[in-house]
Amino acid sequence: MTALTLSTAAATGLRADAIVVGVAKGEKGLVVAPGAEAVDKAYDGKLASVLEALGATGGEGEATKLPAPSGSKAPVVLAVGLGALPEKDEVFDGETLRRAAGVAARALAGSKKAAFALPIEDAEDAGVIAEGALLGAYSFDAYKESAKDPKNGKAPLAEIALLGGKPRDKAYKAEIERASALAEELNRARDLINTPPNDLNPEAFAAVAQAAAKEHGIKVQILDEKALTKGGFGGILGVGAGSSSAPRLVKLSYTSSKADKNTKHLAFVGKGITYDSGGISLKPAGHNETMKCDMAGAAAVFAAVVTAARLKLDVNVTGWLALAENMPSGSATRPGDVLRMYSGKTVEVLNTDAEGRLVLADALAKASEEKPDAIIDVATLTGAMVLALGNRTYGIMANDDAFRTSVHEIAEEVGEPSWPMPLPADLRKGMDSPTADIANMGERMGGGLVAGLFLQEFVGEGITWAHLDIAGPAFNEGGPFGYTPKGGTGSAVRTLVRLAERTAAGDLG
Ligand code: BES
Ligand code: MN
Ligand code: ZN
Repeated sequence: MTALTLSTAAATGLRADAIVVGVAKGEKGLVVAPGAEAVDKAYDGKLASVLEALGATGGEGEATKLPAPSGSKAPVVLAVGLGALPEKDEVFDGETLRRAAGVAARALAGSKKAAFALPIEDAEDAGVIAEGALLGAYSFDAYKESAKDPKNGKAPLAEIALLGGKPRDKAYKAEIERASALAEELNRARDLINTPPNDLNPEAFAAVAQAAAKEHGIKVQILDEKALTKGGFGGILGVGAGSSSAPRLVKLSYTSSKADKNTKHLAFVGKGITYDSGGISLKPAGHNETMKCDMAGAAAVFAAVVTAARLKLDVNVTGWLALAENMPSGSATRPGDVLRMYSGKTVEVLNTDAEGRLVLADALAKASEEKPDAIIDVATLTGAMVLALGNRTYGIMANDDAFRTSVHEIAEEVGEPSWPMPLPADLRKGMDSPTADIANMGERMGGGLVAGLFLQEFVGEGITWAHLDIAGPAFNEGGPFGYTPKGGTGSAVRTLVRLAERTAAGDLG
């Protein structure tokens, strides 16, 4: 991954391939943002007018390259747009800086080293710029033989020097460490999501989780098909029944070294369908090409638990990865089959493409046994949520209004667009089954909420629970933007990590 350090060097004195500066839309045109004063001076104060002549406006997402001023050790200056200049006495918000840093890192793919001279007021600003840059520099080239020839490929920016911070200051150091660990794990989640499903089946995913857990002192337990059968995990087994790759349930337990009886315990549960063909209720062409992303919830949970361990947060976090491949075959679950779930409830499977709720139901029931202070599940659960909220916003449902509000606020704070959604009780009757306790499908209208209501029935009595449906933002089929690449995005990782941090700090519940 890209290396990032804080530096006190002068922007023009640093040996680098480019200097990154920020520009904003002022009342009377383009304005050079704080942090780039020395660079502007080297242009005799004409940087803004030169950029305007080149067509730059300072709008968000904009990146303009120009030759560096004479005397500069770097050959190129890259100006990234920061949008509207903040009002007097206000500063650029965190997400604006994060995105601009991401745009800069992406624009500099193929370069070795860059100096970032963006506006930094405090340690937190340094943290978000580091995060945006490290996430924006990501690329997934593992399967591109052509990209291995340096003539064709553009390797991610290798090195970043962040200027304008305080390298010796404890708060700055902590923010950079946090951003580096978080970005590394989030980028690893993206790798997992982008890995083709012929290479990432449940067993392979479990092996990756096991190796990482070992490295970071996380306890890991893997239930294979034998253990799942013995344990009665009818939901996970039913979904995996059609595949020649058997399902797995992975439990990752991070325990704070300072843990005592007051230490809070969070359980994160992730949907890990390594490929969703729909099963016997097969998806039509046009709906299955990106279904390798259907394990993005499990990838997010995995990344969040490892990050919590790396940051040594004072909270206990258990991660549950419900891994299965949903395939049609002679051994597959049929529409009409009844599954006996881990909780003891029976489910009539009316549509084998509503498989996520089945694997999650087992994992939620299992996670509930430990009576955690809260359970948060993350899943690419329904197309209906994408219809409701679009491709960049995830839906939050919960059995506790205050907790749903907290999750929403946390998501907002870390730059993950989300929106609270209800769990209307009247939608429950649509899942009544003549044969079993419940069916895995209900009314088509409000399908995302129906899925949430189904999950709720498998959450242990009295346990605070939230459900994040990330079907929209998990996988970006459009072009890259800000620090978000094409393909796997790592959606929900930052929400989960901040939730763990807030819980550790005693800010929640
Ligand atoms: N994995 C899909 C949901 C999905 C859709 C994720 C688009 C990402 C992008 C899920 O398993 C699914 O197929 N859901 C069905 C449920 C329906 C059959 C009740 C859906 O949303 O159509
Ligand atoms: Mn499905
Ligand atoms: Zn699915």
